[in-house]
Amino acid sequence: MPNSTTEIIDSVTGSRRLRRNRRFDWTRRLVQESVLSVNDLILPIFLMEGDGTEEAIGAMPGISRYSVDRAVKVAQQAHKLGIPAIAPFPNVALDKRDRTGSEITNPDNLICQFVRAVKSKCPDIGVITDAALDPFTDHGHDGVLDNGIIVNDESVAQIVAGALRQAEAGADIIAPSDMMDGRIGAIRLALDEAGFQDVGILSYTAKYASAFYGPYREAIGTGGLLHGDKKTYYVDPANSEDAMREAELDIAEGADMLMVKPGMPYLDIVRRMKAEFGMPVFVYQVSGEYSMIESAAANGYIDGDRVMMESLLAFKRAGADGILTYHALRAAEKLNAAR
Ligand code: PBG
Repeated sequence: MPNSTTEIIDSVTGSRRLRRNRRFDWTRRLVQESVLSVNDLILPIFLMEGDGTEEAIGAMPGISRYSVDRAVKVAQQAHKLGIPAIAPFPNVALDKRDRTGSEITNPDNLICQFVRAVKSKCPDIGVITDAALDPFTDHGHDGVLDNGIIVNDESVAQIVAGALRQAEAGADIIAPSDMMDGRIGAIRLALDEAGFQDVGILSYTAKYASAFYGPYREAIGTGGLLHGDKKTYYVDPANSEDAMREAELDIAEGADMLMVKPGMPYLDIVRRMKAEFGMPVFVYQVSGEYSMIESAAANGYIDGDRVMMESLLAFKRAGADGILTYHALRAAEKLNAAR
């Protein structure tokens, strides 16, 4: 009975053999469902004061903070590679941080300086700015701290003021990452009243109270400042219904785009948000995800480039329209080389 195994397999599969489509590179290419392209990538850039300065970030191998002039060069490099947009995050001098994050309202703060510089030297790259207060507060929280409580409405007022300064500087999209209630509607109203109808809002809709943000806090210098955690305003990692309610509100308040953050542990949220709301959904592959891939690769445990590309493709498969990733430059280089 030389064919018995074949007969058994055919009898259970009904002759359906899924490996046929995987047989050749060309069949695999023909049946491939999700495609990652340079057009999907958003590059976060860390800013610092100074001129001609670059400082390596210990917890994020391969990533630096840059003075505005140098950061503009990075933006130009991203633009050359075809990356559609960048997202600056500032490491603000400690003496400019206070309880209410008032430096965010300074029209000449680090973010605004950078936005003006990049818009004059590289106007065609999208600039997406964060209006959360954490880079500007002396306690590292995203809002105003009052007797141990992050007070919602005062925080929103400050976030709105910051968003307006960013729009005036030339930001294309405001992306508040603070999770205060009502901030999307308040920002939309203020932008419209100030004549910024065309400035968009990318809401950090489902931002989870995650331990994956650790390296980022070193990058912007909030790690040593932050006491306690952000559980009273970020979403509980146990919850997905809460994230859907956040999306409903953000859409009603006028968000143009939604975001899920972190990325890889929350692919189910990306999938659900895309399916339930049909809005543009972005995902943030955060610092901890980046550093896990980089450190495992540096130890030779994984092939860093392949894991990087696989993780980015997984976001597309889950339904993401765009991906904020510290790997954007390297991924773009690989995608361009493969064309
Ligand atoms: C805070 C903010 C965080 C990140 C960007 N803005 C989270 C935090 O520090 O709590 C995380 C980004 C990353 O980890 O890559 N508004």
